[in-house]
Amino acid sequence: MTSTGPLAPRLPSPLVEIRDGRFVRHGLRLLLKRDDLIHPQLIGNKWRKLAPNLEAAAGRQVVTFGGAYSNHLRATAAAGRLLGLPTVGVVRGQELADRPLNPSLSRCAADGMRLHFVDRSTYRHKSEPETLAAILRAAGAEGAYVVPEGGSNAAAVRGCRALGEELRGRADVIAVACGTGGTLAGLAAGLAPGQRALGVPVLKGGFLEADIQALQEHAFGARTGTWSLDDRFHFGGYARTTPELDTFAERFEHRHGLPVERLYVAKLLYALVALAEEGAFTPGTSIAAVVTGRPFPEA
Ligand SMILES: Cc1ncc(COP(=O)(O)O)c(C=O)c1O
Repeated sequence: MTSTGPLAPRLPSPLVEIRDGRFVRHGLRLLLKRDDLIHPQLIGNKWRKLAPNLEAAAGRQVVTFGGAYSNHLRATAAAGRLLGLPTVGVVRGQELADRPLNPSLSRCAADGMRLHFVDRSTYRHKSEPETLAAILRAAGAEGAYVVPEGGSNAAAVRGCRALGEELRGRADVIAVACGTGGTLAGLAAGLAPGQRALGVPVLKGGFLEADIQALQEHAFGARTGTWSLDDRFHFGGYARTTPELDTFAERFEHRHGLPVERLYVAKLLYALVALAEEGAFTPGTSIAAVVTGRPFPEA
């Protein structure tokens, strides 16, 4: 259903080397794993995470969760439209219900997703069975197939293992931006011995190490592969930015002709340049940065 038809992916995604003096002068190679080219609507890690879940939904209504600018909500809505599956998006922030929809939520609605807004406290407790049941009841979605926030469940993590497998023998360090950490959890499990994965969390908090380990235990039975996190590049938290980060992203786009998604990919690329400059990689190291998204709205 998802490897052919409207969700047919372009896999493996392209791996391209770019020349950037900030890496070259430290004896490093930078490659971009263009997961943003897998599918026009299920972009980046979204196809890898959603495809196994949509198979499992087997035609049922799909419910998922996200904030007002969630890439995951948009991808789920698009997948629903393409497959003819009804989708419900549970959105964090009751106050948003009375305001005009922002462009991201408008896109979800245009793709046929029914939006259900919940207050932040309820949203925080959405993984607890009683709260989840109450949300589903209020959203008129009892019996639906539930995909968690960010799409990161065991099926999604196992789907992301293929990303690591595609990169076997292609680079020494594979770097990815992390929200829930599901992509890193799968990616690290797919790599060959001797390769390592590096995660750059875009949220502030320092809780992700335990979450990723739990995701791997759930998906694979144990912590798997070699991976670590560098918590210094969240720029204040989710969707926060600084003029320095904005300028960095604009220049990177200009220099390399790559549209740089701002919530995740910009922070990842910034982190890699900073790490190269501080000598964190030994000369001769090849680094593959996973391009997990595209800017929204597109220029
Ligand atoms: C563009 C982009 N990159 C990276 C991520 C992080 O993925 P994960 O939640 O698996 O860590 C997301 C998550 O939604 C995303 O939209």
